[in-house]
Amino acid sequence: MTDTLTIRRPDDYHLHLRDGAILAAVTKGSLDFGRAIIMPNLVPPVVDAAMVRAYRARIMDAVSLTPGASFEPLMTLYLTDDTTPATIDAAAEVCTAAKLYPAHATTNSASGVNDIDALTPVLERMAERGMVLCIHGEVTDHSVDIFDREAVFLERVLAPIRSRVPGLKIVLEHVSTRAAVAFVKEAPNMAATITAHHLVIDRNDLLAGGIRPHNYCLPIVKRREDREALVAAATGDDDRFFFGSDSAPHTDMKKLGCCGAAGCFTAPVAMGILAHLFENKGRLGTLEAFASTRGAAFYGLAPHDDTITLVKGDPVALEPIATPDGPITLFNPGFPITWRVENSPALDGR
Ligand code: NCD
Ligand code: ZN
Repeated sequence: MTDTLTIRRPDDYHLHLRDGAILAAVTKGSLDFGRAIIMPNLVPPVVDAAMVRAYRARIMDAVSLTPGASFEPLMTLYLTDDTTPATIDAAAEVCTAAKLYPAHATTNSASGVNDIDALTPVLERMAERGMVLCIHGEVTDHSVDIFDREAVFLERVLAPIRSRVPGLKIVLEHVSTRAAVAFVKEAPNMAATITAHHLVIDRNDLLAGGIRPHNYCLPIVKRREDREALVAAATGDDDRFFFGSDSAPHTDMKKLGCCGAAGCFTAPVAMGILAHLFENKGRLGTLEAFASTRGAAFYGLAPHDDTITLVKGDPVALEPIATPDGPITLFNPGFPITWRVENSPALDGR
């Protein structure tokens, strides 16, 4: 029986570190990873080069609280209706990617883009500069059922963007449907991130036998057959599917109210959950490709030379993390997490 696994240090190609009082505790939870694409949906959003630089500096201050930690935030620019090609030129020096939130699609996306057609000159400039476009792929048309918003987005919004700006490198973020997996497989210049939680829960884990607010995220978890398509893509051999946790912490106060916030806090346990899943599928040998090398290759980055070792043992304790704003509950996949990253600052002795 395998009980240790050493792989190149993983990266997280979609992460929310937040800001303010919870930034330090949340950042510590991601220190298993060498780099992460940092989401810009703060309040207010990170919309220009100066804001990106300032946010990056706050993250590096948080990283420096853990002795010996080395973590590189790969910054992103939040696109709005007011973003211009000149905004892209100024941000290109400090940003790896820009993020497209259709306005009102998810948490803190009110300043996102209303008129995606009008963004074409911005997307063309990104293509010229080789800047990646990260997309939250859900329509915001409330006449579309919440379980269909990703699938409708593919034909209604994503296909036209691709044909208008064919040279643009696009990452469809946190894919949640069989339809999205099929779309990405057919599309050149595209990749997709897959979260740990979309690989291990479906809508039954959200809604059957009682509502579980900590399993509520956007895109909402779908049917079992959608989850199975995601598992096949993550554990399969297509290089365009790689790991992005979409770890999105909210305090329990915000998750458990009568209008609970969307987002699962997975980063500290993500590698353990992935190891459990890949082992069960007989695909542990592919975990390094999914978590450590495919994303770097798509983004044109060198893979890390250093490694992490995952070890199997007693289950990780899932008590909430304490922050100055109150506790934040860790995602519970519904099975004991027996794999852990050795000496992980993120697990902090759990
Ligand atoms: C994210 C958040 O809370 O910022 N929430 C989520 O459910 N994933 C936003 C997002 O990525 O959609
Ligand atoms: Zn996200």
